[in-house]
Amino acid sequence: MADFSDKNILILGGSRGIGAAVVRRFAKGGGRIAFTYAGSREAAEKLAKETGTEAIHADSADRDALVATVASRGALDILVINAGIAAIGDPLTIEADTVDRMIDINVRAPYHAAVEAARKMNPDGRIIVIGSTNGDRIPFAGGSAYALTKSAMQGMVRGLARDFGPRGITVNSVQPGPTDSDMNPADGPMADLMHSFMAIKRHIHSDEIAEYTAFLAGPHGAMITGSMQTIDGGFAA
Ligand SMILES: NC(=O)c1ccc[n+]([C@@H]2O[C@H](COP(=O)([O-])OP(=O)(O)OC[C@H]3O[C@@H](n4cnc5c(N)ncnc54)[C@H](OP(=O)(O)O)[C@@H]3O)[C@@H](O)[C@H]2O)c1
Repeated sequence: MADFSDKNILILGGSRGIGAAVVRRFAKGGGRIAFTYAGSREAAEKLAKETGTEAIHADSADRDALVATVASRGALDILVINAGIAAIGDPLTIEADTVDRMIDINVRAPYHAAVEAARKMNPDGRIIVIGSTNGDRIPFAGGSAYALTKSAMQGMVRGLARDFGPRGITVNSVQPGPTDSDMNPADGPMADLMHSFMAIKRHIHSDEIAEYTAFLAGPHGAMITGSMQTIDGGFAA
């Protein structure tokens, strides 16, 4: 298991689901760990107590608050950008404000957070965004705006890998397929449809995503950059 004991780590959106699994995984490896949350104060405080990490209220939709939070952590070694929402629905009726809020959280925030982190990031740093297999494939109706946000991340990852590579900083996207969480419960109404697109017909466990994220953040990830690391049970195969 990679040793993160001397690392300064920030996870954006760590109170629930995949983000909480990432917090728990890094906490096993030590280090100075903080995570942000927006709506789930109780869950965030409980997780912080359980893991010995710090919970910070910062809404990713508020650019100034987000950038100030990233800057306040000093020279980071690892930034994981997990905070995201999924607005799924008929593009003819979904609220425009709902779509724009998703673009703020899923696209604008990762870009500004990654750039702010890179200002002071230590050499050999790691920037990891949680994208989605839907950045590559959207085989059901109603997901166009969500897919847009996750495809946008791909361009950002490729570009920032070029920008920060000379400093040894890697930039990658972990792209989950259907993963058991509040956003996409394994026993939810969409589960059977999701499994119909997968080679291995079950939801992914959030700790499977977290484990791979930790691998990328560890020493063996040093030459993996500008890449999309898909963990989707064959959803996009
Ligand atoms: N589950 C899946 O099947 C799946 C598949 C592919 C990709 N993903 C991606 O994985 C990431 C995590 O998804 P999940 O399934 O774990 O979702 P989730 O269960 O809904 O949890 C979302 C997390 O993001 C945080 N968050 C959301 N909006 C935020 C904001 N404005 N500011 C700060 N934090 C915010 C939430 O914190 P609060 O509750 O405190 O606001 C929560 O901790 C997302 O980027 C999602 O698009 C998920």
